[in-house]
Amino acid sequence: MKVCFLLAMTVALTIPASALAADDKEKALFIDGNCNNCHNLSDTTVGPSLIDIADKYRGDIEAQGKLEKKVRTGGSGSWGVMPMPGTRQSISDADIKVLVTWILAQKAKPKSDNKTDGQSGKEAK
Ligand code: HEC
Repeated sequence: MKVCFLLAMTVALTIPASALAADDKEKALFIDGNCNNCHNLSDTTVGPSLIDIADKYRGDIEAQGKLEKKVRTGGSGSWGVMPMPGTRQSISDADIKVLVTWILAQKAKPKSDNKTDGQSGKEAK
C-alpha cells in the first residue's frame, strides 16, 4: 500500500493536473508487473509501444482474449523474434485483463510528436 501511495504521489507530482486521467490504477499495475521495463507509451523499446499495440489490434474483436493469454504465458512472433516473458503469478488474470483493456484503449499517436503537451511520451514510463 505504501508503494502504491508513493507511486500515486510521484505520478501526481510529475504530470500536469490536466493529464491526470482515471488510469492511475492501470499505470501502477503496469509498473508493478515490470511491463514498463520493456514497453513505453509511444516509443518502441524492447517491446512494441502501447500505442503501436493498440493500433495493430484496433477492430480485432479477438484481440482482448488473445493478448491476455500472451501476457500470461509470453511468446514471440507477433512483432519480431524477441520473446516476451510470461507474467508472474502474483499479477492475477484479472490484473492482466485490466492491463490489456487499458493497452487496447490507447489512442492513436498524435500527428506531431509533441512531447511537451503532457499527452504523449511520459505517461507509461
Ligand atoms: C522482458 C521484456 C518484456 C516485459 C517485461 C513485458 N513485455 Fe510485453 N512484449 C515484449 C516483447 C519483446 C513483445 C513482442 C512479442 C512478439 O513479437 O510477439 C511484447 C509484446 C506485448 C504485447 C503484444 C503481444 C502481441 O502478440 O501482439 C502486449 C499486449 C504486451 N507485450 C503487454 C505486456 C504487459 C501487460 C506486460 C507486463 C505484465 C509486459 N508486456 C511485459 C517484451 C516484454
